[in-house]
Amino acid sequence: MATNITFHPGSVTATERAEILAQNGVTLWFTGLSASGKSTIACALEQHLLHLRKFCYRLDGDNIRFGLNRDLGFDEKSRNENIRRIGEVSKLFADASCICCTAFISPYRADRLVARELHEKAGLGFIEVFIDAPLHVVEKRDPKGLYKKARAGEIKDFTGISAPYEPPVNPEIHIKTDENDVAGAVQIITEYLASKGYIQLQEV
Ligand SMILES: Nc1ncnc2c1ncn2[C@@H]1O[C@H](COP(=O)(O)OP(=O)(O)OP(=O)(O)O)[C@@H](O)[C@H]1O
Ligand SMILES: [Mg+2]
Repeated sequence: MATNITFHPGSVTATERAEILAQNGVTLWFTGLSASGKSTIACALEQHLLHLRKFCYRLDGDNIRFGLNRDLGFDEKSRNENIRRIGEVSKLFADASCICCTAFISPYRADRLVARELHEKAGLGFIEVFIDAPLHVVEKRDPKGLYKKARAGEIKDFTGISAPYEPPVNPEIHIKTDENDVAGAVQIITEYLASKGYIQLQEV
């Protein structure tokens, strides 16, 4: 870790930025099994919020692994580092007054807690969104054919099959995707953001 560094504060306060942009930054941290619907819902939500003229951006697991995290694998240590970096990046987006949606399996509670604490220490909102569907449902969906490969032993450390998934204990939002469709999920999250004052729907 570097020692001769000094944090340089900006000339605009967080409150000023939020007032000028008419929106408070927050991170919506989607977690859930592969094929539970994180990316699908995050995409639909991003589109919906942008159409409401809200600044929203999505950080998606696979996409980030093509760039920033291309040096990381799927063993526990790499998963920890993957989530630590995303925690830091999403914090920057939230600080920029963005509604940042992260869509990562993020199977370990301790890692999600690290991301939460990073935000909370900086006075930024963090909303854990549990995208939940039973294993037999996601395994049947299997849009990328990954469960099939994992069952055949072709992928090691696959969450739900050969690696653990620790479900959130107290998520701010819990969406069961075997009971809610995508539009329903988007509505639940949008209403939550409005109810907590992150966005104002009547302005639209
Ligand atoms: N209610 C629902 N909400 C979201 N997705 C659903 C729902 N019902 C069915 N699906 C389907 O489930 C699949 C979810 O895949 P998606 O890629 O969004 O999952 P993911 O959680 O991002 O997985 P991964 O961790 O592998 O990236 C899609 O094929 C989607 O069409
Ligand atoms: Mg995804």
